[in-house]
Amino acid sequence: MRMNPRIFDLIEKIDGPIRLLFRDRTPATLYEPMAYLLGAGGKRIRPLLLALSCRSVGGGLEDCLDAAMAIELLHTFTLVHDDIMDHDHLRRGLPTVHKKWDEATAILAGDGLVTAAYTGLLRTRHPELVRVLGKFTEGLMVLCEGQALDKAFESREDVAIGEYFDMIGKKTAKLIEMSCEVGGILGNGTDREIAALKRFGFSLGIAFQVQDDLLDVVSKEETLGKPVASDISERKKTVLTIHFLSRADAAQRGRFTAFCGKPGLTPAEVDEIKSLFEQTGTLAEAERVISEKTNLALSELELIRPGQSREDLRELALSLLNRES
Ligand code: IPE
Ligand code: IPE
Ligand code: MG
Ligand code: MG
Ligand code: MG
Repeated sequence: MRMNPRIFDLIEKIDGPIRLLFRDRTPATLYEPMAYLLGAGGKRIRPLLLALSCRSVGGGLEDCLDAAMAIELLHTFTLVHDDIMDHDHLRRGLPTVHKKWDEATAILAGDGLVTAAYTGLLRTRHPELVRVLGKFTEGLMVLCEGQALDKAFESREDVAIGEYFDMIGKKTAKLIEMSCEVGGILGNGTDREIAALKRFGFSLGIAFQVQDDLLDVVSKEETLGKPVASDISERKKTVLTIHFLSRADAAQRGRFTAFCGKPGLTPAEVDEIKSLFEQTGTLAEAERVISEKTNLALSELELIRPGQSREDLRELALSLLNRES
């Protein structure tokens, strides 16, 4: 993702203190795995959106840095547990926490990260901190609902496209929505601006997950930092699999079904899946949805006061369109 120097500088300001968290804390069996994934990079999209949202309505980084860091800790917690749930071995280019250590360590590291997220958020000084805590907590509960649906859909073959959008709205878009909304609150935006930032975040979050589902098939492990075609191995229901099954003929469906649930698909098998998705217009459909939802998100920014940070939000949203990881 290409970023302008202002956005890059903001990432550094958020990333620096995140990387210092939990250093030299004991017991190391808890804090080392907590710091591990935080130190492995990641796009920092959620804290960036929170900080830019705050700035876009007149706030400063000092008003929202603790909250921005907290959202990244919360997100990282969800990744550690998600990788156990999805049986994945690679994250941010490194072995997942439960593979490098074990499941008990990963469960506890996740618990520690979510707790540390709240500890950090509580450092925020703002008259509406209780409202912010409520948003944070609600966001996390909805995310859990989304993850529950995601898992339940693995064993269903009749998931409708509307159910898929509901599920990704909960597991992914809600947290991105919350990042933008909380940024708006901490920046003391108007009610109209906060509501617009919230809708911006939700639509962007939907586009973000559809892109994640697309990258699962079209990207490379080295660029993605995650295993490719993990969704097919895990029988996930995505916009791709749902669209494909609605378009495929019997032969195409038969080829695809043979790959579903198969762990460790080979590059040749992934290429065949890609080609099946190409033949049925599935890749094009995913691209269409991503651009439609991104445009919907961008239209909400018209309701934010004009300024540099609003333009940075626009640029960030557009740069996500051609991300490769
Ligand atoms: C991965 O999130 C989980 C999803 C919701 C798709 P990111 O793609 O933001 O992961 P990092 O933080 O950059 O590693
Ligand atoms: C991510 O969905 C949702 C959450 C982590 C809450 P995925 O399972 O598709 O995310 P990746 O692809 O593993 O990052
Ligand atoms: Mg996953
Ligand atoms: Mg998952
Ligand atoms: Mg994914």
